[in-house]
Amino acid sequence: MSIVIRNGTIVNATGAYPADVLVEGERIAALAAPDSGLAEQWAAGAERVIDAAGKYVVPGGIDGHTHMEMPFGGTFSADNFETGTIAAAWGGTTTIVDFAVQGKGTSVLSALDKWHSKADGNCAIDYGFHMIVSDVNDTSLKEMEACIDAGVNTFKMFMAYPGVFYATDGEILRAMQKARDTGSMIMMHAENGIAIDQLVLQALANGQTDPVQHGLTRPPELEGEATSRAIALAKVTGSPLYIVHLSAAHALDAVTQARDTGQNVFAETCPQYLFLSLEDLARPDFEGAKYVASPPLRPKEHQAELWRGLRTNDLSLVSTDHCPFCFKDQKELGRGDFSKIPNGMPGVEHRMDLLYQGVVRGEITLPRWVEISSTTPARMFGLYPRKGVIAPGADADITVYDPTAQQTISARTHHMNVDYSAYEGMELTGKVSTVLSRGRVVVDDNGFHGAAGHGRFLKRDLSQYLV
Ligand code: URP
Ligand code: ZN
Ligand code: ZN
Ligand code: ZN
Repeated sequence: MSIVIRNGTIVNATGAYPADVLVEGERIAALAAPDSGLAEQWAAGAERVIDAAGKYVVPGGIDGHTHMEMPFGGTFSADNFETGTIAAAWGGTTTIVDFAVQGKGTSVLSALDKWHSKADGNCAIDYGFHMIVSDVNDTSLKEMEACIDAGVNTFKMFMAYPGVFYATDGEILRAMQKARDTGSMIMMHAENGIAIDQLVLQALANGQTDPVQHGLTRPPELEGEATSRAIALAKVTGSPLYIVHLSAAHALDAVTQARDTGQNVFAETCPQYLFLSLEDLARPDFEGAKYVASPPLRPKEHQAELWRGLRTNDLSLVSTDHCPFCFKDQKELGRGDFSKIPNGMPGVEHRMDLLYQGVVRGEITLPRWVEISSTTPARMFGLYPRKGVIAPGADADITVYDPTAQQTISARTHHMNVDYSAYEGMELTGKVSTVLSRGRVVVDDNGFHGAAGHGRFLKRDLSQYLV
């Protein structure tokens, strides 16, 4: 069973060049120069030949931060592993790494079992897990080791959400020591939740209940402070650190400074922080609720700083933090009290397209687009070179991308299981044309051809960025 992709331009993190691709079974078997005559031979015996003339052939996207079916405030994020991974495939993403959640008072390994039972057999693309550790004790620290053996070696902790996921500095310190000793990595939600909770209480007491208060009570200084504190704890323990969903220039400054002094600190940002702003949270008639996520959307001037961070590599990669809640019934839980709006936004379908606008606008180069959306996530999360590169031997996770097609984002046409789009009406240049997941065409011009259950669990190696 073979597929040939002809006449396209391969784009890897290292550069772009014209080449034909032979896919055999689940893997990339060979690349050939267009004038070598090999593609003709391959095509003669192929099951399918895809003409990629005028298109880019890139490694399928890897979204290292999603929340399918995530419990939050008595409800669940609206995409399950089936709908969410199908939407991801439509957007050219062929791997997700989702967050299993250890609830307070429960065990880490039971959380891992629970997430396997949600995801196994239901994913349309390959998937892995991170583990949210919200209860640090001798048992859970020990269980981290079993998690690592099971291919889940990145552990998220929260400096936000007191009483729910929040960990004290002492608990963080202990988990970081475990990460240091095991070669694993702590991922940090860096917002000062203790101070934020006071600001939230004060706003509500003053009758300030609109969604924009979500942003105003979580100022960027408190993301910067928590980021600096996490970096200090990482330095003291000698452990690496990964800052999730970095939104603010204040936090980026802290990461940049740490990296410039040689500390093993990494950060991701998300499309919503590059394209949306506090003005969206301030939309009237409770529309702002659609934009409630934590950290919150920031004033517009932060966007240029984040793009700069992506260019300088102080921001290593871009994930979505896809965590959709429907406007009707779910976001509406917070009418009259912004603190009850479920935190999270949809986005898994649009990451590749939105980031491509960075290429169109001259913010990043074409290879950097591939690097921040696929290659670095693969290396960061122990999936390279199986994923994240177009090369012989790699999994045939391939997105054929049309750089000139135009599209308009809308909830009417997206595939995520959520009743609104945060990017409604946004006009984009570039569009996914064909997507292969481990050698199977899952999306093409005629629609979706994948299946829930095609996606396999990825037992991840340790991060390749750690020394
Ligand atoms: O608001 C957000 N980001 N919801 C998802 C959970 C998290 O903190 O990443
Ligand atoms: Zn978070
Ligand atoms: Zn630097
Ligand atoms: Zn998240």
